[in-house]
Amino acid sequence: MSTSEAFQIPLSVAESYEATFVPRLFREWAPHVLDAARVGPGTSLLDVACGTGIVARTAVERIGNDGSVIGVDLNEAMLTVARRVAPDLDWREGDVADLPFDDDTFDAVTCQMAMMFFPDRDRALAEMIRVTRPGGWIALAVPASLDAQPAYRPFVDIAARHSGPEARALLGSYWNCGDADELVAGLEQAGLGPIDRRTRTGTATFDSSDAMVATEVESTPLIDRIDEQTYARIRTEVGEALARYTKPDGLFEIPFVGHVVGAQVPAEKSRSARRVTTTAPPT
Ligand SMILES: C[S@@+](CC[C@H](N)C(=O)[O-])C[C@H]1O[C@@H](n2cnc3c(N)ncnc32)[C@H](O)[C@@H]1O
Repeated sequence: MSTSEAFQIPLSVAESYEATFVPRLFREWAPHVLDAARVGPGTSLLDVACGTGIVARTAVERIGNDGSVIGVDLNEAMLTVARRVAPDLDWREGDVADLPFDDDTFDAVTCQMAMMFFPDRDRALAEMIRVTRPGGWIALAVPASLDAQPAYRPFVDIAARHSGPEARALLGSYWNCGDADELVAGLEQAGLGPIDRRTRTGTATFDSSDAMVATEVESTPLIDRIDEQTYARIRTEVGEALARYTKPDGLFEIPFVGHVVGAQVPAEKSRSARRVTTTAPPT
């Protein structure tokens, strides 16, 4: 099975992502990512791992008629929703590890809340650099580490206390790219600069604390490793520990801390950027 086949999700999940997670979590990050990528009138933009397309859609107004926007994602279902919501934009299927574009095609490349899912981040970055023109900008947004998350951290602690330490790893993939120093060091090593970074606190909204726990637990294999009583204890304790995040209207609004990093591709890209991608030639 190819990576692309292995990664496919049902259309219903992509629709629910667009209806719920985009407005309640991801949308607010898009303007910051576009700022970091210096996107403005006339920019030609590639949004990598575009999902249902929130960054690309947000970019359209800034870019105007003289620029262009393409969204690329591995997942057909995400792209189907992207095409339904914004049929006039250009949506392509592709893997960040092998972007289907020529060298130096774009003024700016963005990648919002996806870097942590890429199995080979160096390669992903090298591909983003390859398709960005010299002097162009790359912007990434990633969730900060679990330790920096005021609500997600206690949630994972509670889940691990009730269901065992493996809960930390099962619930943890989201946070594994969240060390900003490490992220910036990787960009520097790839020859990018100047680099600017910003840590900001956004919001993730759920119908209730139970709904948050269900979202996090039921989308991972943890759900198959705990019995109903353990699951109920986790829900109760999370509800108590994080009660201050329940608003008068009943919605559960928790902080979601992330890093937004912008990095310029150097004018002399061929030497500095390829340092990362080049493997030793056969001898
Ligand atoms: C959390 S979503 C973020 C989507 C979008 N950037 C947003 O902000 O709403 C992560 C996205 O990464 C995509 N993705 C994961 N691995 C990928 C890869 N190797 N190449 C391209 N897209 C990938 C997924 O299909 C998914 O749409």
